[in-house]
Amino acid sequence: MSPNNHPGQLAGTHWDPSQYLKFSDHRLRPALELLERVPLASPAIIYDLGCGSGQVTRLIAQRWPSAQVYGVDNSKEMLAQAAAEPSRVHWIEADIRAWSPAKPPDLIYSNATLQWIEDHAQLFPRLASYLKPGGCLAVQMPLNWEAASHRLMRETLENGAPGGGRLGSQALRQALARKWVENAQTYYDLLVGYTTSLDIWETEYLQVLEGEDAVLEWVKGTGLRPVLNELDDTQREIYLAEYTRRLRQAYPVRPDGKTLYPFRRLFIVAAV
Ligand SMILES: C[S@@+](CC[C@H](N)C(=O)[O-])C[C@H]1O[C@@H](n2cnc3c(N)ncnc32)[C@H](O)[C@@H]1O
Repeated sequence: MSPNNHPGQLAGTHWDPSQYLKFSDHRLRPALELLERVPLASPAIIYDLGCGSGQVTRLIAQRWPSAQVYGVDNSKEMLAQAAAEPSRVHWIEADIRAWSPAKPPDLIYSNATLQWIEDHAQLFPRLASYLKPGGCLAVQMPLNWEAASHRLMRETLENGAPGGGRLGSQALRQALARKWVENAQTYYDLLVGYTTSLDIWETEYLQVLEGEDAVLEWVKGTGLRPVLNELDDTQREIYLAEYTRRLRQAYPVRPDGKTLYPFRRLFIVAAV
């Protein structure tokens, strides 16, 4: 397993913004739905944790024009893409696991990122504790551990080699076997002692994807990255051929040429 890819930081820091942004409409919608539920009129200091290429961070800066807005990420590629577009956002290279704000923020926002970080029992109360009184923690994470795309990702590591053998290291298989996001009640229990109100909900989007092997292309931009990063060229080729075959069965192309990819997400808006 590469040093960048140990189970504590399965995401690694090398992201490909263009692969991630292939489905930017589908990825943007939950980010905006989360933002809409933030109950703050005029926050002064805002952090977007795991800001990626900064698309949402810039929208945050537009929604609250007088706020100081910071985008935090540990991927140089993503931050370079973010900084390439002029904006008044301050981009910060930092690892969320070690990050703490210079001044107490009014809003900590994080879309599609905290699932990459382990130990939510420690992480969520820690983030809530940084907020100014009256502030808010707003988080969205995918709930796709049980989705066929992710089950097949794990199963193909277990038995996808010719003859039904394993692929990749035990550490990789263990890291992928970790359930990244807990259920809604767990986050309620984690945060209730630190907050004055908690708004938690789930949404399942029936995503209509275009293009060949659309689900494979989707996961290549996010969940499959640890597998692709770790396997050597030969293993990667074997893995991708078998995983693609299984994905095509699980997500058949519809008569109109589109592929349906149901995707469940968990939203948390916690006010302190
Ligand atoms: C799936 S992208 C989401 C990007 C953005 N929030 C959005 O909604 O488009 C996840 C981002 O989290 C970042 N990330 C993952 N683990 C991180 C960590 N420990 N510290 C900082 N950033 C991290 C990645 O570099 C990546 O840019």
